[in-house]
Amino acid sequence: MAFIPEEFLTELRERIDITDLISGYVELRKHGRLSKGCCPFHSEKTPSFTVYEDTQSYYCFGCQKGGDAITFIRDIENLDYVESVKFLAERAGLNMPEDNYDDTLAKKKQRMIYMNKDAARFYHNYMMSPAGKKGLDYWLSRGLSMKTIVHFGLGYAPDDWRMLLNHMRSLGYSESELHEADLAKRSEKDGKVNYYDNFRNRAMVPIIDLRGNVIAFGGRVLDDSKPKYVNTSDTLIYKKSLAVFALNFAKSSGEKSLILCEGYMDVIALHQAGFTNSVAGLGTALTDEQVRLISRYADEVVLSYDADEAGQKALKKAMEKFSNTDLSVRALRLSGGKDPDEIIRKFGAERFKSIVDGAANEVEYKLLDAKTGLDLSTDDGRVKYMRRVVPILADIRNAIERDVYTSRIAEDISVSKEAITLQVKEVSARRNRQNQKVDFGKLSNTSKKMVKTKAEKAEETIIGSLQNNPDFLKKIDESLRPEDFKTEPYGHIYSVLTSRLKAGLPTDLIYLSSEFTLEEMGCVARIQTNSQEISNTLSEVMDCINVLKEEQSPKEAVPVSELSNEEYLKLFKQ
Ligand code: UTP
Ligand code: MN
Repeated sequence: MAFIPEEFLTELRERIDITDLISGYVELRKHGRLSKGCCPFHSEKTPSFTVYEDTQSYYCFGCQKGGDAITFIRDIENLDYVESVKFLAERAGLNMPEDNYDDTLAKKKQRMIYMNKDAARFYHNYMMSPAGKKGLDYWLSRGLSMKTIVHFGLGYAPDDWRMLLNHMRSLGYSESELHEADLAKRSEKDGKVNYYDNFRNRAMVPIIDLRGNVIAFGGRVLDDSKPKYVNTSDTLIYKKSLAVFALNFAKSSGEKSLILCEGYMDVIALHQAGFTNSVAGLGTALTDEQVRLISRYADEVVLSYDADEAGQKALKKAMEKFSNTDLSVRALRLSGGKDPDEIIRKFGAERFKSIVDGAANEVEYKLLDAKTGLDLSTDDGRVKYMRRVVPILADIRNAIERDVYTSRIAEDISVSKEAITLQVKEVSARRNRQNQKVDFGKLSNTSKKMVKTKAEKAEETIIGSLQNNPDFLKKIDESLRPEDFKTEPYGHIYSVLTSRLKAGLPTDLIYLSSEFTLEEMGCVARIQTNSQEISNTLSEVMDCINVLKEEQSPKEAVPVSELSNEEYLKLFKQ
């Protein structure tokens, strides 16, 4: 377990203001001693993420994440505990205490970052040497300039099983380290282990994180063979679901909008053509984490997916995801070429610029897309089009907006506006009826999740009261052991709290965060948040303890969560 001196944490706590820190990531609005904003950890439109000035903590009522400043940095920057403390110390202008804490993991990650940087340098230099001419020629044949090649740090991996391995060995990295970074693969035959280069005879694209570190690679074949790309699999420093290609460059483009493409090649070509606000996912379907990351750096996203069916399908999914955020979305429909790279090469940057400027918003895109495969000059085509368009119009919440599009369609296909409006109303009415049912279903689902056992409620009350009233410690400690807790991870939280209190140590969240996982911190923050409003007397707490002692069957699901505090305490007294 990482050990950082408490005096240091105390100083950090004094220097870092959590509201200040979090406002760098979340737009917060002040309500007295607390601030609210849209949670950066899950997609939402109404703020349920709350930051508490007094306890220097945060808690999201939507996704139940919570904790102190260190927990926040761990989660949002994807760093481990020690790295997060370092991150905050740097921000506060504090020098980290001497290296007497365990930072093996941080060191390992740092070494992997160096390793990737050395590998990127090797691939690049090899490409620039006569032996690597094949690689350089490939990039040039794709229309890239030397400037772009250098800017993106592109390279070429030799057509050889061990050339990178041997080079990296000479720099002092071991084969197993290379394997952990996925730069080398490992095979075992007759008990003999053999390592070999993962990337061979491939045009190499380094993947760079927001701090400018090379964290992974994509390697493309030079011809049409399969697989087209070999990519670094997830490692200690790389999770492809969390990364966004070229965001390191795009974040400082000065644009409020980001162009999101599908491929590395699209992004590289777009940057070369002056669209330095282009980024891409990494070959997987867009994840929630990527959506959140993008929304941190942009107010608008322009989806620029391939023109083929797969691309348009992915585009619709992406659009759906973004419509759950407060980002505005527009989408391109490319014609005359399959992807942005091809459009630019064929028609130039000007043309692409005009496509971006004229990009459809979500409704326009859907209306346009509804025409696919239909011949609007026939009655049959127009009827089918109406059928597709009505649900889209019914989706539009704003009445004026809905009216504008209805008129536009009416004109477009020469159908009376009244006829369309009537149909839209019918669909809305039907949906409302259905929604009532669906909502009811949802409600009973979530309330099931919210149902707490009697024991769970009692445990939360005990922990919360202990935090608010350290003077209860003696009485509580005499009657309750961590083993008496029924719910994970409350027993553990209780044991950490009591041992700190016994030692006369503070129990503010910042001192606890080295002991707990992110989920556990979320629990602690939730209990703290709830107990701020209710203060229980010692005798009420003793009642809760009795509940735990008496309760033999551990998971007796009583929906007590809906009861008021008084009603709920009465239950115990019966
Ligand atoms: P594309 O096939 O559109 O790639 O796949 P591209 O980058 O435009 O390549 P070119 O123009 O043919 O050279 C889109 C993205 O999907 C991932 C890569 O991230 C790629 O950039 N992908 C594709 C893979 O990871 N593996 C594959 O085999 C293919
Ligand atoms: Mn392409």
